[in-house]
Amino acid sequence: TKKVIYDTDPGVDDAMALLFLLAAPDVELVGVTTVLGNHRIDVTTRNALFLRDTFGFEAPVARGAGRPLVLEEKDPPVWVHGENGLGDILLPETIRSEEHPLPAHRFIIETVRKHPHEISIVAVGRMTNLALALREDPEIASLVKEIVIMGGAFGYRGHSGNVTPVAEANIIGDPHAADEMFAASWPIVVVGLDVTQEAIMSTPYLEALRDRGGHMGRFIWDVSRYYERFYRSSTKFDGIPVHDSSAVAYLLDPTLFTTRGGPIRVVTEGIAIGQTIQAPNTRRFPPNNAWEGRPDHKICIDGDADRFLELYFDTIVAAAAG
Ligand code: BDR
Ligand code: CA
Repeated sequence: TKKVIYDTDPGVDDAMALLFLLAAPDVELVGVTTVLGNHRIDVTTRNALFLRDTFGFEAPVARGAGRPLVLEEKDPPVWVHGENGLGDILLPETIRSEEHPLPAHRFIIETVRKHPHEISIVAVGRMTNLALALREDPEIASLVKEIVIMGGAFGYRGHSGNVTPVAEANIIGDPHAADEMFAASWPIVVVGLDVTQEAIMSTPYLEALRDRGGHMGRFIWDVSRYYERFYRSSTKFDGIPVHDSSAVAYLLDPTLFTTRGGPIRVVTEGIAIGQTIQAPNTRRFPPNNAWEGRPDHKICIDGDADRFLELYFDTIVAAAAG
């Protein structure tokens, strides 16, 4: 069983990935930490608490960073995730769950120290909480079991950025945090747009989930209506890429993906701000380049989309069947 901290900005696809984690038999969710991104921090935290109320998980919800390390906070992308961050589904007036007393980065430090070498972190929002945790306690880098992040775009399989031609949302939202996180020697696997945009949930797929996936399946259908309208009207996809669930899929079954190793840098200014660039670890470049001395991390360069879609479907349907 994997002990997992889920660092998230719910967010439609964040909610869908959380259900994937909850439904997976070999996952013990030990905490949900929130971060700004798909909406402001008060909204993403409220949404995480709402999901806790609705799906009854025990793991605490700890509120994280409300602004990027250096950049100014931008208006949230309500055209993708809705005014309430959850596709404008009807939310209750009152939320029963309460926030954990610690801020997210301290919760991460405390949990990692309590369970050395046992915690997997799945980070699917801005990397701000992880960078703050590292700044406060750099030693946690050697105590975390693995980090799987959704973020970045490396130009494989013809995929480019989704905020600019080179930048993906989670990275451009706090490029300084991402670059600091990649500077640390902890085992990071990056699940970027190169693979998340290959796995598209079609309308019939989502209808089948709605009809066979019980409470979770019906929720997935409802929460994804607004998101599907956005993707169909603004992109070439025949359905929805559910980015964050691909990071969960890597955690559950890494054989779904092909990876490549090498140090990663993030551009923190200029027109390419937010671009993620990996230097191959199989080639030497002249000295004094910006990648030198930085640790290797893995990026996913290819994935088995059909098997991913099957795994997501079967996991939700099996959980519904109890
Ligand atoms: C990422 O950005 C957010 O909008 C999604 O939740 C996902 O984590 C995709 O670029
Ligand atoms: Ca997200």
